[in-house]
Amino acid sequence: MNRKYRKPLIAGNWKMNKTPSETKAFLTQFKAMLPKGRGCDIALCVPAVCIPAAVKAAKETRISIGAETCSAFSSGAYTGEISAIMLADAGCKRVIVGHSERRAMGETDRDVNAKLHAALAAGLSPILCCGESLEQRELGVTQEWIAMQLKAALRGVEAEQIRRVVVAYEPIWAIGTGHTASPEQAEEVCAQIRTILRKLYGGKLARAAVILYGGSMNDQNAPELLAQPDIDGGLIGGASLDPEKLIRILEAANQ
Ligand code: 13P
Repeated sequence: MNRKYRKPLIAGNWKMNKTPSETKAFLTQFKAMLPKGRGCDIALCVPAVCIPAAVKAAKETRISIGAETCSAFSSGAYTGEISAIMLADAGCKRVIVGHSERRAMGETDRDVNAKLHAALAAGLSPILCCGESLEQRELGVTQEWIAMQLKAALRGVEAEQIRRVVVAYEPIWAIGTGHTASPEQAEEVCAQIRTILRKLYGGKLARAAVILYGGSMNDQNAPELLAQPDIDGGLIGGASLDPEKLIRILEAANQ
């Protein structure tokens, strides 16, 4: 990470884990262990039903609460969906958009673009996910795939909105598998993402953009990954469920 231009972000993605009571218990423990003073930004993206408990417990701390997805629409007959406006009103500051697990459930690039716009319009800071499959990596089309995903997701996003967007590179083959990308592999794609942002929005905004790596990041491999110049933090699944592991990752980011 390059602290001169950007502040690191450590974000947890709890996926479909923890109940509201477990959320409260996690935050009680996590807050007690949080290093004092400034340091990197911290976000917890939690299941929708856990948002009220998380927002309450994170009040007056530097932990921002986020959701794991949002609707592409602002309101209407979409049974079971939750709009970005509702999330913002519930106290969320962030929302994950375009996670590969949601894309696997049928979310298209057009949906991701619409959700990104919905999140920005509601005043949220989206964490936009992109990443290639093992097949795409082996075929040598990672760079083209990531460029396509980013260009499609960012269509119509203005320069002053891009400041609020965090991009997370999450190779699908590394998610939940224990096979982390090597620091060099992760850095290569994160640097490419910055180049794409530079082409779309210019050097100044690209330099300020926060780019995360996600995929089996844990307290063991975080120091090396976070030492890469274009990796500004992590989007952490499994390891974010354990307060002690998450604290150790935070400490690595604060080095
Ligand atoms: P894991 O850290 O469990 O591999 O999950 C990564 C992820 O998908 C975060 O969004």
